[in-house]
Parts: sequence; C-alpha cells; structure tokens
Amino acid sequence: MSSPNLLESSPVSLSSQRRRKSAFTYRQLAQLATSTTSCPLRVIAHIDLDAFYAQCEMVRLDIPPDKPLAVQQWQGLIAINYPARAFGLNRHVTITEAIKQCPDLIMQHVATWKEGDEKWAYHEDSFKNMATHKVSLDPYRLESRRILATIKEHLPAAPISKVEKASIDEVFLDLSTHVHGIMLERFPELKGPPPYDDPTEQLPRPPTTALEWQTDALVDLDSTETEDDDPDWDDVAMVIASEIVRSVRAKIFEALKYTCSAGVARNKMLAKLGSAHKKPNQQTIIRNRAVHHFLSDFKFTKIRNLGGKLGDEIVAAFSTDTVKDLLEVPVEQLKKKIGDDTGTWLYNIIRGEDHSEVNPRTQIKSMLSAKSFRPSINTLDTAVRWIRIFVADIFSRLVEEGVLENKRRPKTLNLYHRQGAQTRSKSASIPMGRAMDETLLFDIAKGLLAQVVSEGRAWPCANLSLSVSGFEEGVTGNKGIGGFLLRGDEAKAISAAVREPSEVRNPETPPPSKRRRVEESGIQRFFGARQESSGGNSEREEQQDFHMKDEIREAHSPFDVPPSAQLASDDTPKAHAEMQSGHSDDDPSRYTCSRCNSTLLVTEQGEHDDWHFAKDLAADLAAEERTNTAAREQSRPASISLSTQPKGKGRGRPPNVVKAEKGQKKLQFG
Ligand code: CTP
Ligand code: CA
Ligand code: CA
Repeated sequence: MSSPNLLESSPVSLSSQRRRKSAFTYRQLAQLATSTTSCPLRVIAHIDLDAFYAQCEMVRLDIPPDKPLAVQQWQGLIAINYPARAFGLNRHVTITEAIKQCPDLIMQHVATWKEGDEKWAYHEDSFKNMATHKVSLDPYRLESRRILATIKEHLPAAPISKVEKASIDEVFLDLSTHVHGIMLERFPELKGPPPYDDPTEQLPRPPTTALEWQTDALVDLDSTETEDDDPDWDDVAMVIASEIVRSVRAKIFEALKYTCSAGVARNKMLAKLGSAHKKPNQQTIIRNRAVHHFLSDFKFTKIRNLGGKLGDEIVAAFSTDTVKDLLEVPVEQLKKKIGDDTGTWLYNIIRGEDHSEVNPRTQIKSMLSAKSFRPSINTLDTAVRWIRIFVADIFSRLVEEGVLENKRRPKTLNLYHRQGAQTRSKSASIPMGRAMDETLLFDIAKGLLAQVVSEGRAWPCANLSLSVSGFEEGVTGNKGIGGFLLRGDEAKAISAAVREPSEVRNPETPPPSKRRRVEESGIQRFFGARQESSGGNSEREEQQDFHMKDEIREAHSPFDVPPSAQLASDDTPKAHAEMQSGHSDDDPSRYTCSRCNSTLLVTEQGEHDDWHFAKDLAADLAAEERTNTAAREQSRPASISLSTQPKGKGRGRPPNVVKAEKGQKKLQFG
C-alpha cells in the first residue's frame, strides 16, 4: 500500500549539519506506538465523502461522474454534486431556480417510507406526497456501512489503527501505531534503545532527504519555517500517514466508486479542517510546521464549538473574530473573561492543540425515528400512522443489527411527544419473553401514545419521536429464550409474515395488563388503528394534518452525530455543551448549532433543536433505565412501566441531561 520511494535523496543542507538531533525524544516515539493523545508525533486523518448523498445516487443509478445531479427532498435540494456546484447550485436554491441555472440537472428524490409499505422505496411521485411519506435515509446509511467496512478491511485491526465513524459520511483514523510500525521498518535506526537508556534523549534526525508528498495539498508553512528546512520525524510520520490515507481512498474508489477528501494532521480538529480545505477528491496535509499559519487564516468562529454563542461572546469580549488577533491575548486574560476552563481550552485550541481521542464506537446504542409536524397534527389516527412508520423504520434497522438472530436486542422503547412548549416522554420495557417483531413494538408504542393522550393536552402535536435504547448482547444457552428466538431465514420469513396487518398472523397478542391499561384509558380503538390507518373516510381530513416537513437528520447517522457536526463527541469543556445556538456571522440565512457545530439553515433550526432535544431525552431515559432496571424487572409482565417527564421548558437542553462516558459525549442513535 505504501510507496517504497518515500524518501528521495537530496543534497545535505546546512541546517541539518547544524541540527544533527531530532526535536523529538525516544519517549515521544514510544508514545507514537501507543497513540498517546499528547504525543507530538501523533497522526490523525479525517476522511469525508464528497457530496455524499449525491454520490450515492450517482453510484446507484450508474450516472457518469461529469453529469450534474442533486438529491431532492420534497421541494428542496439536500445534496449537490460537484458538476452541479459548478453551475452555482447550493442547498439554498429552490428546484425552480436550480433548473433555470442548470437545465440538464438530474434531480433524484430521496427514498421514502410510504404509509402501509413494508420497506422504503424510491417512489417516482414521492415529492408530491409529503403528507403520507416519510424520508428514508437508509440507502445512504447502507452505503456508509459499506464504505466503513472497506476502510476497516484496508487497515490493520484495532488497536494498530483506530477508526471512528463520525457521521454518515466521515471517519477519523488514528494512524499513530500503524505509522510507528512502518517507521521502524523503514528506519531501523529508530529501533535501538535510547543512549544511556534515557528516554528523554533526542532521536537521531531522519536522513536528509526530500519527502515525497505526491499529490497531496500541502498547507503553507509557518513564517518561521522554510521548505529548505530538513524534515523531522513528525514530517516523516505525516508522509507515511498520507500514503496510507491515499491508498485507503484509492481502495474506496476501486471497490465502491466513491470519491472522498481527507485531512492529515496531528489531531482531530486540524484533520477535520484539513479534509474540508480542498474538495473534491483531494487530501490536505497540515504539517506541524504549518499549523499556526493554517489556523491564523481562519476566523475562530469556524472552529468547532466556537460557532455559536461562546464564539459570539469571545468576539464581543476581545473585539475580534480572527485567530490571529486572539493569539495575542495572554491566557490569564482569556481565563479572566471567559472562565478558567474555557479560557484554557480556547488558548490551546487556537494553537492547534486538541487531545481528543479517536474513539472507535462500533455498537449502536439506540435508534431514533422522528417527525416534526408543520403545522401540528391534531388527531390520534394521524399520530398512530406516524408511529407505525417509525416502528417499521426502527424495526428494519433492528433487523440489520441482528435482532432476529438475537445478537442484540433493545430493552426499552421511548416515545416523545411535543405539544406547545411541553415535551413529554414515556418509556416501556420491551418484554424479553416475546419474539421481537414490528407488531410487538407497534403495540407498545401505541400504548405509550395512549398514555400521553389519556393525560390530556395531546393536541396539537408538533413532534413525535420514537426510539429504542438499552441494547443488550444476545443471550445464549437459555432454553426459555431460545424457544421463541428464531434464527436467520426462518426468523426473517416470520417477520415478513407479521408485517401483514392481521391479528391472526400475529403470533402474540398484547400482554393482558397492557390491554387493560389502554382500555381503562378509554381509547381502546388504538389497538385497531393499525387496520384502520390504511384507508377510511378520515383520510381526507387528515391530509390537512400532514403538511409537515420531514426531519432530514432524524436518521442521519448510525451514530449520534447530526450532519456536518462530526466533532460533537469530542471531549470539550462542559461549558461548550451548554451553549445556545447562534447565527452564522457571514450568512444570515444560516446558523451554527453550538451544541454540535453543524451549519444549518435558519429555517431548519426548529427541527434541529428538536433533534437534540429528543436525543437528550433519550439519554435521560437510558440513564433512568439503567438505574431502574431492577424495579422494572419486577413490574413485568406489565411491560409498560411508564416514566413521564414533563419538560416544561420545551426546546433547548433539558435540565438533567445525562453525562456521557468520558470521551463520548452523547448516546449513539441508529
Ligand atoms: N446533509 C443533510 N442536511 C444537512 C447537512 C448535510 O441532509 N443539514 C447531508 C447532505 O445531503 C450530504 C451529507 O449529509 O450529502 C453529508 O454532508 P456534508 O459532508 O456536510 O456535505 P456533502 O454533501 O457530503 O458535501 P461535501 O463534499 O462538501 O462534503
Ligand atoms: Ca461530505
Ligand atoms: Ca460530512
């Protein structure tokens, strides 16, 4: 994978004669091997797919790479390929304008779930059916998985290389250990023990050579450095990382026909800025000697976590929005004005210091399906129809997770309901004694909705979301469970059968206690809603309820990162997590969510906030779930152990958001 002629000889320069020792020590080399986050030789890459959804459609439909294409969602465009961008198209352009600007534009609508269908599909007329369809990003999620698998196949297994899926179309790679191994092979002089066995001894310098950067975009060096300066080991490490990344990108293209861009640097923050630096299909290297120059050209508001209110406050406090100016401010003054933690964090981040870990998160912890209603919905039937789609959406993802084969299984189902400023959530255990199927989830979900409705003030409803959480690994060797958990094809066949909306085919009926609850609540017709929902006289009336916009990002990533918010899971000071959203300074139609640093349309803000809100609620519930497991076990087989959490403040961050594990701020959503 790596080119053998990494180093080409060049005349020995004066400076190398002056500095015969490396700036790095044996200890630091050893830290590279263990990929210590503070190691100055560390090599991190960030890979981001070019115009991802658009490429998915190009690949799927086998469209030549030079044809302009945009991905349509209802009346908007959500992804635009690079040939179409050459016509000046972007995500703000309406469909009519787009066609005017680029008459040959291919517009492909995203796949949708049609009410009553078993699976999402590419419907030709979906754009006319916002009322009865829900967007499915499953096709992109599947491609995302294939790409991730290709990347992993091409790299040594963990812990030699670490891969963190950061969003639907991007990954971070920690290549430190891998690069260390290659360095030792290529430069055997690094293998020896340090002189006097002292790890603080400096390494010998690398051979005096010119590094072969091939086609990489190299960021200009700091003013104190020149290209004539001899490389040190950090440059060598970076070249090797860059070879690896180039070969990974080539592999992705060869195997799957996708192009991507990459950034290589000493940490995640810089690597991420690097991948966006030159697009499409390019890779940018930010050598350590170029970091200050690279960053000083940025407005600090472009750095993650500095796009929102905190960024605005800093702009106000120091009367500047440039990194360059802020670099002049002593740390003490930063601390005085914005607090000790944040001040220290800011001081380091603008100097390119970021010690967050590449976190290989493989297991999905929860899955969310949601819809915001604009205008709000007003009837139970409408709500039940959406619940049915959420269940189908989540269930299909559970099947992919291996739930039918009992590999993993969620313990809890959560429903969120928003009415005015109040969000209520209900959760129920998914009984372990039952085979997991859509009917089971649908019945429980309807039960939860019944609870909300029976409490009153359910309408108008502005948002409904359903999630599963509390995944447990498969139970083996347990007779009782093995009795109903089916394997592979058999299970799939049965699951196809139970998708039929017939009680007769359904092997199980809702547990008696649940029935009772629902009957008591006086909305018994709930359990018949499934059949009713496929037609009937109320259909026309309900159409009026359905003028809502799908949440683009409801199912965005198998992980907990909204679009273009890839760094949300980094370990940043608590203060940042609590920041509010702010508007982007250079485009009044856009704002940057300070919780995840996504740049979004202002019109998308409501939905985006909902998205965070729902996730925070899910996090609450997951934590509650952990602490209440024992109690809930006792309440079986009632299976609906309800937890009601009125969130009086509505939008925004709920007061008791659960603290995530170290290095991983949030729960993952499927
Ligand atoms: N996306 C979205 N809604 C957003 C932001 C992004 O649906 N608010 C989708 C886009 O359709 C995109 C994918 O998420 O294809 C990845 O987003 P991003 O990497 O930001 O943009 P790309 O379209 O991949 O373009 P680029 O080449 O600039 O990365
Ligand atoms: Ca992208
Ligand atoms: Ca991206």
